[in-house]
Amino acid sequence: MDTPFSTQIRVASHEQHTEAETSPFMGHLLGGKLGVEAYTRYTEQLWFVYRALEDAAGALREDPVAGPFVRPELMRTAALERDLAHLRGPDWAAGLAPLPATEAYAARVAECARTWPGGYVAHHYTRYLGDLSGGQIIRDRAEKTWGFARKGDGVRFYVFEEIGNPAAFKREYRALLDAVPADDLEKQRIVDECKRAFDYNGAVFRELGTEFPLSA
Ligand code: HEM
Repeated sequence: MDTPFSTQIRVASHEQHTEAETSPFMGHLLGGKLGVEAYTRYTEQLWFVYRALEDAAGALREDPVAGPFVRPELMRTAALERDLAHLRGPDWAAGLAPLPATEAYAARVAECARTWPGGYVAHHYTRYLGDLSGGQIIRDRAEKTWGFARKGDGVRFYVFEEIGNPAAFKREYRALLDAVPADDLEKQRIVDECKRAFDYNGAVFRELGTEFPLSA
């Protein structure tokens, strides 16, 4: 296929990206219509997902397909834990439980990490490239809505301290995608898994939307 893989995967997930961006929960969160407890609950879900992504990273470092994507500067678990300590207090881990959709999402990430490096790449792309892009819009809104210090506790998840030039990093990331050692059929499977990853995110937003309907 002539189209670069980074383009294939972006184009194939474009429609679902729009859906995610315009989901009621995201819309209300970005519109400043929800309290900080909704943002906290959302951040909790991210912790479960990133733990699944990052617990597996070490074992995949030497993998020919997934290995090149395992980059220490992307790791988000520690930042999420600082945010959760700020949002939930020092005992942030006590009583923390994923929503059912989050549990399913994290289980699928872990399964891919264990059994299918290409699938892991699909989940990696869907989260990290998104965080480097739209994540910055979310950070800006969160700082303004709930008064977090700029790039401080509460929004550290969105701050990639070790990535000085996100645009350049994203270009490199796309080059890694283009160089993935996979045939056309496997690339199609990875694209399909990326769509699945967007579905999982949509399901988490729906459950968050049910928990935090617009009551005001
Ligand atoms: C309100 C929420 C969101 C906003 C405002 C947003 C915004 C954006 C923007 C502006 C870009 C383009 C960046 C560029 O061209 O370099 C982008 C890219 C991306 N977003 Fe989002 N996004 C949101 C939610 C999501 C969600 C929930 C996901 C998936 C979990 C996601 C995944 C991605 C991915 C994978 C890309 C990279 C596309 C590519 O260039 O290959 N985004 N987002």
